[in-house]
Amino acid sequence: MTDTSRWGIAAESGIQAREGGMHFWDAYWALEIDRCPCDVHFTDYLEASGIHDASIFHFGTGGHHHLGLRIAEVGSNNAVYGITASPAEYDTYVKLTIDRPEVGRLYKVFFGDIYQLDARMLPDFDVATLFHLCEFRTEKNDLYNALTDLEVAEMLVDRLKPGGRVLFYPGSFAWPTAEGVVAQLVARKGLIAEDGFKSLVVCRKPG
Ligand SMILES: C[S@@+](CC[C@H](N)C(=O)[O-])C[C@H]1O[C@@H](n2cnc3c(N)ncnc32)[C@H](O)[C@@H]1O
Repeated sequence: MTDTSRWGIAAESGIQAREGGMHFWDAYWALEIDRCPCDVHFTDYLEASGIHDASIFHFGTGGHHHLGLRIAEVGSNNAVYGITASPAEYDTYVKLTIDRPEVGRLYKVFFGDIYQLDARMLPDFDVATLFHLCEFRTEKNDLYNALTDLEVAEMLVDRLKPGGRVLFYPGSFAWPTAEGVVAQLVARKGLIAEDGFKSLVVCRKPG
């Protein structure tokens, strides 16, 4: 089971993964802006930057699905492909989509381990969030040859359109490690740091 003690969240699903089973997140994250403002700051960023009609990849939706709800609310026509590894969060997505198809139209969430992404399944994105880089990958992911944080980050940067943005969250408990991954992305992919926005680091892909 994932150690959620850093977040103080109780396990939710009752699902037991066998040894070597998927390293899922047996927890649920409600919107807590004081503790973790990254998703709210991200929608603020989209709106302040006038980003519309964009395709967005979002790592870690939470159970609140703030990004999808806010995009529907402001009518920006941004389209989101989000991932959660939490069965409880996925459950709230299913319920939300059934209840509010106008939200689900542009907000697609899939359940899975980001460390099993496959580039062939990813379209090109204008914006990607990697707020939770290095927070969840452990030796449990090694048991099924999952990607590393750097490999996931490189894949998503490769999938960014020229001039696309990738955003990071220095407020993460894993930032001391994630920062090193970002430095490697800068060196290997030529990412360019832009002005930060609120709690977020913003990088642009050349082109
Ligand atoms: C602490 S919550 C934060 C949610 C939201 N971004 C926020 O700040 O309110 C972490 C998120 O990362 C997701 N997550 C954890 N491990 C993951 C993995 N291996 N692959 C994909 N998502 C994962 C969880 O399901 C959860 O949605």
